Amino acid sequence: MTGTTLWCVVPAAGRGVRAGGDLPKQYQLLAGRSLIEHTLERLAVHPRIGGLLVTLAADDRHWPGLHDVRGKPVLTAIGGAQRSESVLAGLDALPERVGSEEFVLVHDAARPCVRPNDIGRLIEQGTQGDGGLLGAPLRDTLKHADGDGRVERTESRESRWRAFTPQMFRRGPLAAALREANRQGVAVSDEAMAMELAGFSPLLVEGAEDNIKVTTAADFALAEFLLARTSS
Ligand code: CTP
Ligand code: MG
Repeated sequence: MTGTTLWCVVPAAGRGVRAGGDLPKQYQLLAGRSLIEHTLERLAVHPRIGGLLVTLAADDRHWPGLHDVRGKPVLTAIGGAQRSESVLAGLDALPERVGSEEFVLVHDAARPCVRPNDIGRLIEQGTQGDGGLLGAPLRDTLKHADGDGRVERTESRESRWRAFTPQMFRRGPLAAALREANRQGVAVSDEAMAMELAGFSPLLVEGAEDNIKVTTAADFALAEFLLARTSS
């Protein structure tokens, strides 16, 4: 694969409340290594990724102090109370030589199973325009619930996608979009949502559904299983 290399911001400043456990989920072990180390390894081995910027909680005592992974530089910055703040802090902490129009990836520390092929396709397709994100069309029937947990109605599944990471946008416009969403008091749950508010139409690039976000305690075993078999 040819082309310039890109930086990847890796938000890892969350507390992992839903996962429980003694450690924040990004530091829990999977097959003998922390979740975040698996994720950083997956990213660093990709030939199009040139550097990693990890955002950490201000009181993080578990970060292993990595300065490079597979020869790629690893920088850190302090994240914020919301994921979007952590991403913005990471964008602001990128080296100055990363220009405003350069594409930057953002990938959750909690998604260790992302496939190299999918990262490559996102970069190939997204850099033709204004960026995009990995996702997958909804497979299950979608129900809208009422307040009592009963079905109010069935919604169409057509045209509905689940959004994953990595997401990839130009550094300057993404930072501006996240700042503007924050200024408007809109809680954006991913980078694409901030870009949508700013008037962009991010490209959806279909990726493997096993790019799970480790969220609950049960997800660790699933991720361990998937990691062993999703190397491409
Ligand atoms: N994240 C972050 N800063 C925050 C919140 C989340 O950098 N203030 C990161 C998490 O560390 C994770 C990614 O964003 O890698 C996705 O968030 P999520 O899966 O929700 O992780 P947590 O917020 O840690 O988990 P929970 O919501 O269960 O507390
Ligand atoms: Mg969270």
